[in-house]
Amino acid sequence: MRRLHPTYAESAELVSEYAYPGDRVWVRANMVSSVDGSAVVGGRSEGLSGAADKKVFGVLRGLCDVVLVGAGTARAEGYRAPSAKARYAESRASAGQRPAPVLALVSRSLDLDPTSALFSGPQPTIVVTTESASSSAAERLGDVALLVVAGENEVDIGSALDQLAALGLPRVLCEGGPHLLAEVVAAGRLDELCATVSPRLVAGDGPRILTGRETAAPVRLQLAHLLEEDDNLFARYLVTRA
Ligand SMILES: NC(=O)c1ccc[n+]([C@@H]2O[C@H](COP(=O)([O-])OP(=O)(O)OC[C@H]3O[C@@H](n4cnc5c(N)ncnc54)[C@H](OP(=O)(O)O)[C@@H]3O)[C@@H](O)[C@H]2O)c1
Repeated sequence: MRRLHPTYAESAELVSEYAYPGDRVWVRANMVSSVDGSAVVGGRSEGLSGAADKKVFGVLRGLCDVVLVGAGTARAEGYRAPSAKARYAESRASAGQRPAPVLALVSRSLDLDPTSALFSGPQPTIVVTTESASSSAAERLGDVALLVVAGENEVDIGSALDQLAALGLPRVLCEGGPHLLAEVVAAGRLDELCATVSPRLVAGDGPRILTGRETAAPVRLQLAHLLEEDDNLFARYLVTRA
């Protein structure tokens, strides 16, 4: 993979390109879109992905403590709890991280199948929900997951992230989807966006990588790096705060 910015490099080392800034709370999102701005092909992101995108996806998972994802994405994409990868065993152990990232699902409805692969990872999956969530659904999921309650009728993202940090999970990787990411941005909690531009045109009326809640004012981003492989562009943006 080539680095095009800030300096040219023929072969960028992805683990250092994407290193978290220490063990403080840091919320990174990773999203892919077509050149014409769609976040989906046929209702899923798979059609926008390829070998290069999967490489970055794998590195970002290898570096994080927790994968935060909305229930809509988990359902649409048939999510599974992440497994431990031998490649990251040593670096994770020396950074005091668990062997595999924890999966944290955000859901108000709790419409999640407790027998699915979402809950069969090496460590308990977290379900972040609201006080108003159905108590019977919460009880059912409580047998297979750790429930984190944040907010009354909708998940308070700030409180959820603070509770994840208190559980020893400060390095967050938000994999979307577009509604959850808009909530994270609206809560002022996004630190970094890793945006892949996939060399494809798809048209249609699929969502952009953020949708739903509009930001009070446009959020200014600073380009930290730009990588390229197989015509895919991998931009790493930092959120600038006044
Ligand atoms: N291109 C990409 O990089 C990318 C990445 C991810 C997903 N996608 C695509 O995006 C689509 C899914 O989009 P989406 O925006 O609907 O997915 P999403 O953001 O993953 O899921 C939305 C759901 O998450 C829960 N949720 C989010 N914020 C919440 C809050 N503040 N409080 C309570 N619950 C909250 C709710 O779950 P409940 O309904 O359970 O209450 C809500 O219906 C799929 O087609 C997927 O393939 C694309």
